[in-house]
Amino acid sequence: MPDRDLSEQLTKYLTDVHSIEEQALSQMRRAPDLAGDPEIAEAFSQHLYETERQEERIRELLEAADAEPSKIKDVAGRAGGIGMLLFAKFQPDTPGKLVAHAYSYEHMELAAYELLGRAAERAGDQRVASVARDIGDEERRMAGRLESLFDRAVDASLRDLDPDDLSEQLRKYLADAHAIEMQAIQMLERAPKITEPPELARLYEGHLAETRGHEQRISDRLDAVGGSTSLLKDAGMRLGALNWGAFFQAQPDTPAKLAGFAYAFEHLEIGAYEQLKRVAQRADDSETARIVDSILAEERAAAQKIAAHWDAAIDASLAQVAAA
Ligand SMILES: [Fe+2]
Ligand SMILES: [Fe+2]
Ligand SMILES: [Fe+2]
Repeated sequence: MPDRDLSEQLTKYLTDVHSIEEQALSQMRRAPDLAGDPEIAEAFSQHLYETERQEERIRELLEAADAEPSKIKDVAGRAGGIGMLLFAKFQPDTPGKLVAHAYSYEHMELAAYELLGRAAERAGDQRVASVARDIGDEERRMAGRLESLFDRAVDASLRDLDPDDLSEQLRKYLADAHAIEMQAIQMLERAPKITEPPELARLYEGHLAETRGHEQRISDRLDAVGGSTSLLKDAGMRLGALNWGAFFQAQPDTPAKLAGFAYAFEHLEIGAYEQLKRVAQRADDSETARIVDSILAEERAAAQKIAAHWDAAIDASLAQVAAA
């Protein structure tokens, strides 16, 4: 790819991460009030501070990349930013959902910076590469903090309920997990349209088969603990209301974006299952906890495999642009 095209692509990636940060800012401003727990609220407040700096650093890089502000705006409009597609109406109804979605979002950011850093290296832009590394580390640390807060998130979500309600809550969490698996199936069924890089295409295909298995096991388990069809329907609507729908309509159109989305989505699943497992343990349902553990292992493995292919994803995306 000619250098000029490469630096134009880099500007596009910068625009994408900038819109992700703007979206993150509006989430981080609201999140502490929704957290339902002082430690969770504190994690969000701290990350709001980091996110403000991140947005600033990316904006400076964008300005340095192009002296004309109008042109930057232009690119912003065209790129349609990854972030704007996702979580545009980010209003989870419990502390647990807030934490699971934020956990997923941090991984989307992490993916975006892994990809940006690689695009910068290929364009020979060390300044962008180094900022991408720094911010990526901050996103990774925030994701780790959220991971350590799953217990508190479950406590905060269950706090106001009677102990009697625990088995009903477990059915709700199972139904939510089921709704997420249905979305995962939809996403992975569409993924094969993007056939590059082949190693990722194979991975999506393999994980689709696993995902169908997850959907079945969760649905069977829900039956066994007395779940109903209306519970499944409600869960589907709750998830739909979180606006993943916008993402499914505006499909990621490049190997890099698809990999980033898939990586974030695996972490939405991981966040949901980590909490479902805790609810099952509190309800003394060891069978559900056992099933969740084995599904979790596959979700984590899928996420790790995607993360092992950022180089292939960015090369396939850049090759696509060069060929267009
Ligand atoms: Fe960020
Ligand atoms: Fe972040
Ligand atoms: Fe998955």
